[in-house]
Amino acid sequence: MKTILVTGGSGFIGRNLCRTMLTNDWQVIVHSRNPGKAANILPSSVMLISDLNQLTQSVDILINLAGAPIADKRWSVKRKAALTESRIQTTQKLYKYFKDCKQPPSIVISGSAIGYYGGGLANNQPVTEEGAVAPNFSSQLCADWESSAQQFENLGSRVCCLRTGIVLGEQGALGKLLPPFKLGLGGPIATGQQWMPWIHIDDMVNIIIYAIKNDISGPVNCTAPKPVTNKEFAKTLAKVLKRPAIAPMPAVVVKLLFGQMGDELMLQGQCVIPQKLQQQGYQFTYNNLASALGQLLNTN
Ligand SMILES: NC(=O)c1ccc[n+]([C@@H]2O[C@H](COP(=O)([O-])OP(=O)(O)OC[C@H]3O[C@@H](n4cnc5c(N)ncnc54)[C@H](OP(=O)(O)O)[C@@H]3O)[C@@H](O)[C@H]2O)c1
Repeated sequence: MKTILVTGGSGFIGRNLCRTMLTNDWQVIVHSRNPGKAANILPSSVMLISDLNQLTQSVDILINLAGAPIADKRWSVKRKAALTESRIQTTQKLYKYFKDCKQPPSIVISGSAIGYYGGGLANNQPVTEEGAVAPNFSSQLCADWESSAQQFENLGSRVCCLRTGIVLGEQGALGKLLPPFKLGLGGPIATGQQWMPWIHIDDMVNIIIYAIKNDISGPVNCTAPKPVTNKEFAKTLAKVLKRPAIAPMPAVVVKLLFGQMGDELMLQGQCVIPQKLQQQGYQFTYNNLASALGQLLNTN
């Protein structure tokens, strides 16, 4: 039986992943800052720890998803420090702990995001895992997070970094987008030409399990094969909900309301494609945005 340690296991991706991993007959341990709260979210067969020194067995696979929510607040200096520390220091602490272990994890799967590739407004060139890092905050954050995880290669671990798109599921971005769209007040953001690479939560979970079971390493774009622009996203969501999508949000409003966070995450985006997963033979359950949204919103 494999032992899997998950950080951020109480979060949106983590809780869905833990449920699926238990069906593989793996032992799942979640490291949480608040095990009491995590116990109400996760199945009772998940072991909870709040300190790595509570581990009593070796860990075969480490899945590192912990990090303060990136799009919850404006990026003040203090918030940027929290976003960075919650990812980099958590990963450093894991590395420090496992460096001194007789048996470090053979596989490390660690978070990252498509923010790695930066903006590229209205750039229609597909971006693969070879895409370059960009000179902005979210890109640097992803690059630093990946570098801290890559240290595990020194311990002989196979390391895979998940450059994740907007995950669509019962929580996350979709939950925030739904209220205005349900009221018929949704619409594109600014010109709507910025790309919004997305992925269904079931594929996100299945990709992590695929990365455990297959020999994949380095960065992996976790996005559906058919990315859409923001305009197309708004049109499709409105169509699935049978509502109009006529109320655009001007760029100036986004910048006023959300500052740099709105600029980098809402007004910019790249046409990211999952080249590595496709080359490795991963079969997506949801290729198409309309069917993904239809399944999640029960309209298929
Ligand atoms: N969901 C998406 O669309 C998406 C897209 C791209 C990248 N990602 C990345 O993938 C990872 C998982 O995403 P998610 O949506 O599952 O995130 P989430 O729901 O926000 O959960 C992240 C988890 O990280 C832990 N955490 C929160 N604040 C922390 C802090 N200040 N210090 C240390 N740990 C903290 C929490 O666990 P405890 O409270 O139990 O400690 C939380 O459950 C995140 O790091 C995120 O940046 C997500």
